[in-house]
Amino acid sequence: MEPVRLRIGVIGTGYLGVTHAACMAELGHDVVAVDVDPVKVARLAAGEMPFHEPDLGPMLARHVRSGRLRFGTSFREVALNADVHFVCVGTPQQAGSDAWDTSHVEQAFRDLARHLDHSALIVGKSTVPVGTAERMAALVAEVAPAGSRVEVAWSPEFLREGQAVADTLTPDRLVFGVSSGWAEQMLRLTYQPLVSAGTAVHVTDPATSELVKAAANAFLATKISFVNGLAEICEATGADVLALADALGSDPRIGRRSLHPGLGYGGGCLPKDLRGLHARARELGVSGAVSFLEAVDDVNLRRRRRLVDLGLELLGSYRGARVCVLGASFKPGTDDIRDSPALHVASGIQRAGADVVVYDPVAGAAVRQAYRQLSVAGSLDEAVAEADLVLLLCEWDEFRRLDPLALGTAVRRRNLIDGRYALDAKRFRAAGWTYRA
Ligand SMILES: NC(=O)c1ccc[n+]([C@@H]2O[C@H](COP(=O)([O-])OP(=O)(O)OC[C@H]3O[C@@H](n4cnc5c(N)ncnc54)[C@H](O)[C@@H]3O)[C@@H](O)[C@H]2O)c1
Repeated sequence: MEPVRLRIGVIGTGYLGVTHAACMAELGHDVVAVDVDPVKVARLAAGEMPFHEPDLGPMLARHVRSGRLRFGTSFREVALNADVHFVCVGTPQQAGSDAWDTSHVEQAFRDLARHLDHSALIVGKSTVPVGTAERMAALVAEVAPAGSRVEVAWSPEFLREGQAVADTLTPDRLVFGVSSGWAEQMLRLTYQPLVSAGTAVHVTDPATSELVKAAANAFLATKISFVNGLAEICEATGADVLALADALGSDPRIGRRSLHPGLGYGGGCLPKDLRGLHARARELGVSGAVSFLEAVDDVNLRRRRRLVDLGLELLGSYRGARVCVLGASFKPGTDDIRDSPALHVASGIQRAGADVVVYDPVAGAAVRQAYRQLSVAGSLDEAVAEADLVLLLCEWDEFRRLDPLALGTAVRRRNLIDGRYALDAKRFRAAGWTYRA
């Protein structure tokens, strides 16, 4: 089947929205994207990336130049110029609650729908509590001039920052939560090149599709906390958690991916999605069925406290000590520092009295802006100079390649905490380092 050129709207131009908009243009569609942040929109309209994501910049610039991808702040413009709209706005954790904040989603649906005077499909991609699509369909029916000719579907997004382009253009699966054959057909046409290439398509109802995403993130978080719980048992007994993970992960029913021990998960998705799912279960009166999610969160946060304690154990006191934190983003490949485990630990150590200096290959600017109390080094050499303790908290390749001998000459004391089990412990110990993980 020949690819069809559709008119696509994208609402929200954050990590998800920019990636989605550029990839939709890459698939051959005409894309118009809108955001409430005029500064971000101006940069995007000039073909400039507002954040770090490998491979996305050139694709964005190319499609902006060709005119196939446009950015603006007018919902009317998007409503008039697109037939399939993807809502990609943020759903952060509510202040003072574990629940998702869906106010941006509601606002986006309302602001778009009130300009829709022709048949259109609005597809939610944001991660939301189950039941949101149904609420949005009622809202749209009330405010859209085209009434029932506007349909709502939900198609959750599974991209990972750091590999967002590949995840969008060659995903493991597509999930279409639809209420009609027409909505399914529109989504199949939108993703036609991927569907033709054999990407698995799961067609289901909107409520199930909303749950698929929350469940996927809760499962991944559970797997990570599971191996991290075992890491502490290993530490208490002298067993080797990496060998354990290898042997355990060889069982195809378990699998090795996401079974790597370390400082645990963070970022703008896993922590809030795990809590959001639990909060929604509570609202539905079934929280007991997923009470383990609370333990998963506890184990994850415990890992951060444990590293602060481990540093204290190595130094005796944080007062007057110079501590170098390598890595600030929540994982390699991105400058996203939302709920960053590394910065949580860095701030804890600084509060305990140490002089903390942070270095990250791409997230330095974001750290300077959001964590004014932390010193940010401009280079690895500057960060490690005269350190009493080095903590590797985000496993960028640049840090994986660290030479224990060269590093040993730069620091004041050879104390290393490998918070990501990324380095060769034997090599560091042989070079005179006190290595802990
Ligand atoms: N980042 C990821 O890796 C990822 C992956 C899968 C799913 N998700 C989900 O996608 C959603 C967006 O995540 P993100 O990381 O892109 O967030 P983000 O904070 O980077 O971007 C959200 C964008 O929405 C804009 N916005 C807020 N309210 C708006 C409105 N009413 N109208 C138009 N724009 C509005 C903001 O200005 C911002 O640019 C979340 O639900 C998240 O859980 C994210």
